[in-house]
Amino acid sequence: MTPTGILAGLLLFLAVYCAVDPFKHSPLADFPDFEAFPIELPPQSLIPEVKDEKNLLQKSEIKFLNQIQGPESMAFDPQGRGPYTGVADGRIVFWDGHKWNDFAYTSNNRSEICNPQPSPSFYLKNEHICGRPLGLRFHKETGDLYIADAYFGLMKVGPEGGVATSLTTEAEGVPLRFTNDLDIDDEGNIYFTDSSTNYQRRNFMQLIFSAEATGRLLKYNPTTKETSVLVRNLQFPNGVTLSKDGSFFLFCEGSKGRISKYWLKGEKAGTSEVFAILPGFPDNVRTNKDGDFWVAIHCRQTLYTRVLAGLPGIRTFLLKFPVPTKIHYLLHIGGWPHAVVAKLSPEGKLLQILEDSQGKVVKAASEVEEKDGKLWIGSVLMPFVAVYNLAS
Ligand SMILES: *[C@@H]1O[C@H](CO)[C@@H](O)[C@H](O)[C@H]1NC(C)=O
Repeated sequence: MTPTGILAGLLLFLAVYCAVDPFKHSPLADFPDFEAFPIELPPQSLIPEVKDEKNLLQKSEIKFLNQIQGPESMAFDPQGRGPYTGVADGRIVFWDGHKWNDFAYTSNNRSEICNPQPSPSFYLKNEHICGRPLGLRFHKETGDLYIADAYFGLMKVGPEGGVATSLTTEAEGVPLRFTNDLDIDDEGNIYFTDSSTNYQRRNFMQLIFSAEATGRLLKYNPTTKETSVLVRNLQFPNGVTLSKDGSFFLFCEGSKGRISKYWLKGEKAGTSEVFAILPGFPDNVRTNKDGDFWVAIHCRQTLYTRVLAGLPGIRTFLLKFPVPTKIHYLLHIGGWPHAVVAKLSPEGKLLQILEDSQGKVVKAASEVEEKDGKLWIGSVLMPFVAVYNLAS
């Protein structure tokens, strides 16, 4: 056989192997109906290029290493105690200043399958049974904790903790599939996101690659107990936060790399508009005491993500290879895990970027909560909380 013949034979074998995927290694093996859609990214000229040359996040302190896994939201109760955070095994835990305590659960069917595992990824297959609390917010007056559980929808638990009760699991008859984050206004209305109607949290990479627009921004009215859809057809909506004066709230658009603003008061009430274009794809957003916003950026936009945004067919093609989802994840985030966070003014101006571009200390950020001059940085992927002192 000639070398060309061998090469042709190998390529044919590879093509057939990928097409058949006999060992079901392709990230699409369990998604026969997978479909990818174009993403209209903001023009390159509008994407902020500013970098944190000093990699200031490397000065963060890594706290609670291996004591908590995959903490996303960092919440402090109305007395300032905490943080409280939701972890990979489905518990909401509370730091009392000395140790972590169990505070609440979103699942009423916990068993040994929810017991500690070696790393956050080990919990994925049982998340729908054990629960996966993501966004957390305390009601300032009642002290109740509101929870966006990725699998169980919008929930609430009293100041004493325990098993949370469900507030809603659907909107307009369509079940919540990936409840992600929330905030509460002065009247007790809850604004929250359902990131997708098709993909669950454990399949967030498939959702990123699909970019299907079934995400919704929702409102739960505590008086009527009704849930209404405020904005629909969103591509991976994620974090939600009210402005300091309550005149609007922000919601992150994960696939588009931008934040939008939804007006609650004034003549534009009930309408939304683009608030800020980000250097990358946002996860959660939180308001600080001055009314500025801290955004956790899942990863920066790169040439790779920009090219793939416009080529949904290529995205589907790449996912058909029997290559683990983790490799696609690393390609998507630019090669290696590294954290980027941004501070925005109340007008949407980019005030500061803090990052650890080498991923030496802080490898990922899902949420940034500012308290008493410190940033508490949680991540669904990491077994710790990073604390960055703003005075450093
Ligand atoms: C409760 O958990 C068990 C596994 O521990 C599972 O087999 C069962 O389906 C769960 N029940 C519900 C209603 O989720």
